[in-house]
Amino acid sequence: MYKGIAYEINNLFLLHFNMVRGAYLSIMKLNLDIKSKSKPEWIKAVLADFPAFLQDHADCERKASAMAMSMVAKYPDRTEILPELIDTGIEELEHFKMVYDIMVAKDVPLAHSIKEDLYIKQMIKLCHSGREERFLDRLLIGSVV
Ligand SMILES: [Fe+2]
Repeated sequence: MYKGIAYEINNLFLLHFNMVRGAYLSIMKLNLDIKSKSKPEWIKAVLADFPAFLQDHADCERKASAMAMSMVAKYPDRTEILPELIDTGIEELEHFKMVYDIMVAKDVPLAHSIKEDLYIKQMIKLCHSGREERFLDRLLIGSVV
């Protein structure tokens, strides 16, 4: 249960960063202010297992960086978005380092196993097979991640 709640809080906390990833489609950076406060139950759950929250948070940052750089590797010819993808990969890796530094300070190890993202797995199954169509599908999935 805590992993799920931590994941939701993580998503809210990182909303503006997710919007940067969403900018793959528009090639411009967007920021959104969070319009609602986190529910007290969420905060309680995070504080009840803060190490798990940090581990999940670090994993999300690492995955975001890896996904951006994966797009660079798979689509080197898409020069119109390569700078944005590279910047996003670096930015997310910097976020990972920030979370990791907090984890080190709190003596929290990185997670030993990486849980499968079921929603991503389901979306990937729906991707088209053609290169151009698959590129667009991956951009859409990246904006969700
Ligand atoms: Fe991030």
